[in-house]
Amino acid sequence: MSEDLKITGVSREEKYLSLLPQVTGLLAGETDQIACMANFCAAVKETFDFLWVGFYLVRGKELVLGPFQGPVACTRIAFGRGVCGKAWEMRESILVGDVELFPGHIACSSASRSELVIPLMHNGMVWAVLDLDDRSTGSFTSVDQHYLTQMLKLVKP
Ligand code: SME
Repeated sequence: MSEDLKITGVSREEKYLSLLPQVTGLLAGETDQIACMANFCAAVKETFDFLWVGFYLVRGKELVLGPFQGPVACTRIAFGRGVCGKAWEMRESILVGDVELFPGHIACSSASRSELVIPLMHNGMVWAVLDLDDRSTGSFTSVDQHYLTQMLKLVKP
């Protein structure tokens, strides 16, 4: 069976609508968390060509780098630090239109200009975050937040 993605549509929302059932097909039957995270990152990166798409996993008082696609990245982020640590602390998604305007932003890649971080919750606790970076400012909107949050329900704790 071919696992190639076939993305149709022009707008970002159309692409998400095309991607959603395919990611569901890829992930729904898989119970291994790493396998799901890895294919999630690959599917999103391939569809939108964002600079960086990846997961950080809660390990004690830190986030530790998990599966990702893109340039090499920081391996550990403390609770409350950077956009990722702040999303963990707040238990909310954070949309950053211009990373230079976000106090404490951690620049893993100098090419990153905007960022979206979405926490993954289980029983009211954050167990991981999805982090996306892009090369231009204002790249992410509530459309990305909405569809990625839907897709993340396929990634189990
Ligand atoms: N910019 C993030 C760090 C992770 S990298 O972007 C992959 C932050 O401020 O938490």
